[in-house]
Amino acid sequence: MSESLLEVRGLTIHHGQLCAIDDVSFSLNQGEVLTMIGANGAGKSTLLRTIAGLHHPTSGAIEFQGVDIVKMQPNRRVGLGISLVPEGRRLFSSMTLEENLQVGAFHAKKGPFSIERIYELFDWMPQRRKQHVWQLSGGEQQAVAIGRALVANPKVLLLDELSLGLAPIIVERIYALVPEIVAHGVSILIVEQDVAQGVTVANRVHCLLEGRTSLTGVPADLTSEQIDHAYFGAELAKATPQPGVGE
Ligand SMILES: Nc1ncnc2c1ncn2[C@@H]1O[C@H](COP(=O)(O)OP(=O)(O)OP(=O)(O)O)[C@@H](O)[C@H]1O
Ligand SMILES: [Mg+2]
Repeated sequence: MSESLLEVRGLTIHHGQLCAIDDVSFSLNQGEVLTMIGANGAGKSTLLRTIAGLHHPTSGAIEFQGVDIVKMQPNRRVGLGISLVPEGRRLFSSMTLEENLQVGAFHAKKGPFSIERIYELFDWMPQRRKQHVWQLSGGEQQAVAIGRALVANPKVLLLDELSLGLAPIIVERIYALVPEIVAHGVSILIVEQDVAQGVTVANRVHCLLEGRTSLTGVPADLTSEQIDHAYFGAELAKATPQPGVGE
């Protein structure tokens, strides 16, 4: 049974004069992984930050479980069950690994994730829990950022560019967690430039091109030509190598 958790309708978002998101609509259903793909500057982070309450839209609706959340403060959205793993991780680097997780637990709902549970998910963490975040590798920091979002026990997890700056093997390990997180009842909205990785874990794909929806669909129904076209735009797609989708 698919039940819409998050509903975005006709969302338009500006940065000053610049229209970063233009009349975008989509829904995220219970238990679903939806991947938003799009090139540099397509508006992906702007969209996620707006859903998390860190940026105000110009117009349009954002509903969470049927409740209009457009004017709600970010921490109240966390309390309702929306957690963001921001682009670039944004950890508190002068704090320890464990202190970062404690910050995430601050507005936590009741649910399956506790700091202990995060330590089971990432078994290297307990030995390193007193280390400062700056002493951790990029992949380890990304894991802490995911853990910090999960201890709030979100119903919807917003993941912004998990692959950023990480080696392919680390990206694969991080993405391997996605099914496990979903198995705990969390629905996920992923934003990615790494098309192949994002599409692999997706139930549905939504492509943004310069702030507008250029393609939506189920991965199995989409060809790599369609994705190229939607990702790069008609002109560039002809001249640009494929972003690695398909096969
Ligand atoms: N704080 C800001 N002030 C002004 N313009 C901004 C701001 N943040 C983003 N923009 C602009 O809005 C557009 C969308 O940016 P956004 O960061 O949402 O894209 P993105 O798809 O996340 O890109 P990337 O893949 O590089 O992370 C871009 O043109 C960007 O320059
Ligand atoms: Mg971004």
